Amino acid sequence: MIKTANAQTILDAVDILKNGGLVAIPTETVYGLAARADEPEAVQKIFDAKGRPAINPLIIHVASIEQAERYAVMDETTKALARQYWPGPLTLVLPLKKDSGIAPQVTAGLDTIAVRCPAHKTAQAVLKKLSVPLAAPSANKSGTLSPTRAIHVSQSLGNTVDMILADKGVNVGVESTILDLTTDQPVILRTGALTARDFEPLIGDVTYSHETSDAPKAPGQMFRHYAPSLPLRLNAVDVHPNEALLAFGSTKFMGIKGGGRVDDLPEGAMKNLSESGDLEEAAANLFAMLHDIDQKSGKTRIAVMNIPDKGIGRAINDRLRRAAES
Ligand code: TXA
Ligand code: MG
Repeated sequence: MIKTANAQTILDAVDILKNGGLVAIPTETVYGLAARADEPEAVQKIFDAKGRPAINPLIIHVASIEQAERYAVMDETTKALARQYWPGPLTLVLPLKKDSGIAPQVTAGLDTIAVRCPAHKTAQAVLKKLSVPLAAPSANKSGTLSPTRAIHVSQSLGNTVDMILADKGVNVGVESTILDLTTDQPVILRTGALTARDFEPLIGDVTYSHETSDAPKAPGQMFRHYAPSLPLRLNAVDVHPNEALLAFGSTKFMGIKGGGRVDDLPEGAMKNLSESGDLEEAAANLFAMLHDIDQKSGKTRIAVMNIPDKGIGRAINDRLRRAAES
């Protein structure tokens, strides 16, 4: 049951959540599959619905810095960072407070906790009306494409969710940046709209996890991810006849192998992330276009054009590489 967000459906969603149910909520990054974070049975439903391994911890979502401080240890630097980027697409990994009351599955037994304060007005409205934080991973089956539209949630999770709260404004399009502040040097465990450059003026040098170690510290990063069912071929400079095209920028010089222009590809077999080459627009379109090509292109593979590895382009390439690996 997809329900458009309004004053009444938001109250209904809060009610379901209070009673330990599952609600998919819009955030500015992707849809989240939410349950109250302080009830083990409610949190367990998230793992069951997604088919998520128990060793992969969840992010808790809060309405404010004050609320975050009840569950995580926040020093002055952390708070300065939170004041600058919250609410927004930033998740902080912080020391878990003792006796936090958070269900143990949320942190998968770690002594750290991932906390995010989303900016989306509907997510904020739900969080403000509840007095407890929400555990919420992306609202899709484990290992599949993240949802940026309500219909993606219902296609992936069907009636295992009690309600899907639909709203506009899910427009960052890639999941939040995860910044680990529990190590000597801050580490980005997952890149998103915000990058090292955004944090360095406040907290000094920041590294990316894959540059510092082979073993990813965000347990979720070691699993198969973001996979459409069709295989991907990255950095394509032409298109094979059996391929759909996920374009970026001008396609003027892209041809079909064996003859033809990509502009002649059938409707549905070519999507352009951003004709003007805008990386924010491309990120917002990424998962929806992959979903579309996957379901409707009639092709057996997806060729993806090169995307500049800067700003949010770094997050787009990260998701595409993971999707191509699987
Ligand atoms: O944008 C987002 O972050 C979305 C929206 C719904 O908020 N959520 C999301 O959640 O992407 P999920 O579960 O798909 O990804 C959470 C990631 C996983 O890779 C997980 O391993 C990592 O966060 N994580 C959670 N708690 C952690 C912790 N204590 N230490 C390190 N990594 C953690
Ligand atoms: Mg996910």
